[in-house]
Amino acid sequence: MKYKKNNLIIDNLKVETLAKKYSTPLYCYSLKKIRENIINFKENFKDISPLTCFAVKANPNKVLLKEIGKLGLGADVVSVGELMKALKSGIKPNKIVFSGVGKTNKEISYAIEKKILLINAESKSEILEIEKIAKIKKKKVNVGIRLNPNIDAKTLSQISTGKKENKFGVSEKTFLDLASYIKKSKFLILKCLSVHIGSQILDFRPYEKTLKVLQKIINKIKFKFEYVDLGGGMGINYEKNNKKLNLKRYASVIKKFIEKNNCNIIFEPGRTIVANAGYLISKVIYIKEGDKKNFIILDAAMNDLMRPALYNAIHQIIPAKKTNSKTKKIYEFVGPICESTDKFSTIKNFQKLNEKDIIVICDVGAYGMSLSSNYNLRPKPVELLVKESKVKVINKRQNIKDLI
Ligand code: LLP
Repeated sequence: MKYKKNNLIIDNLKVETLAKKYSTPLYCYSLKKIRENIINFKENFKDISPLTCFAVKANPNKVLLKEIGKLGLGADVVSVGELMKALKSGIKPNKIVFSGVGKTNKEISYAIEKKILLINAESKSEILEIEKIAKIKKKKVNVGIRLNPNIDAKTLSQISTGKKENKFGVSEKTFLDLASYIKKSKFLILKCLSVHIGSQILDFRPYEKTLKVLQKIINKIKFKFEYVDLGGGMGINYEKNNKKLNLKRYASVIKKFIEKNNCNIIFEPGRTIVANAGYLISKVIYIKEGDKKNFIILDAAMNDLMRPALYNAIHQIIPAKKTNSKTKKIYEFVGPICESTDKFSTIKNFQKLNEKDIIVICDVGAYGMSLSSNYNLRPKPVELLVKESKVKVINKRQNIKDLI
């Protein structure tokens, strides 16, 4: 994405033209950027040769999943819906892992039928349920156990998953008990030690600490895991302040870990693959100058992009057409929804905007559309993919009639 003669361009396509042709709000993804992200990811971890399973929850669009699958990634799924979609998008079962604390009997049965690579269980009850179903089906099922390493990922509390008080994974003691139970089971095969400590992690040290905890448990259990699934969580630079996760250092500690334990690594990245490849294009409906505050009222709202309302997440907002007219006023960029949290950002010194101007909210390819809703009976936006400078509608705008 760049400016050409002051017009914002996504892979050679003018944002204003897209807005006019497809109407707003709209999501637009760049396949070029997704490809670049995957190449970078592979490059950073080339010495480890991991199986990289895209976390479908970040963006479950079928066309995107197909493209991501073609680029060699598998899928990390957390529901039968995501599993079906991954399979339908051509991702092979032997590249699919199933995570989540509450897999139902039906979901486990379906996953077993489809012979996916791994079900990563998160409790004793789940292990017993998988065993029960495997016994009825007379099948042997590959399982992993997710460890809760009790590590602070130093990220937003709402997206931390690796501390004792979080619902995810099992304690070291339960892990050891479950492992010895599975080893004796006729229907379960223990294949994997899995962990996922949280999301949008920018500090490398929590990952390093996690590996130390994993090493300790492997030494204790004296079992050779075929896979160690390190989850996802790698953060991106939403605020453009140059704070970046040091992936090279992460890769080098993992390399030492593999050499010691002779295991295969699985990653489950979501955000790193798609976040910066997605843009939410929106039109200014009204500009409202208040006594205390000024508002830019957009046609996009928290139902389209939930992250700011839910986590106070920051997303850059930029104009589709650059001008030199700066304003000294502070504007709050908000949506039309009847909630005070329906705001995207407060910005000082933005260029002067007019009603009907187009703006772009950046880095929304992950957890943008996937967290969207029909709140206030607003139809979900259209999704576009730019592929080799051509636009493809990859999900139609919801029809308001269907909502009524
Ligand atoms: N694996 C597991 C088991 C997960 O729970 C998650 C994310 C991932 C992988 C992928 O994490 P990523 O690489 O995308 O950080 N809605 C929040 C993020 C929630 C993430 C939940 N789990 C957000 O908008 O920031």
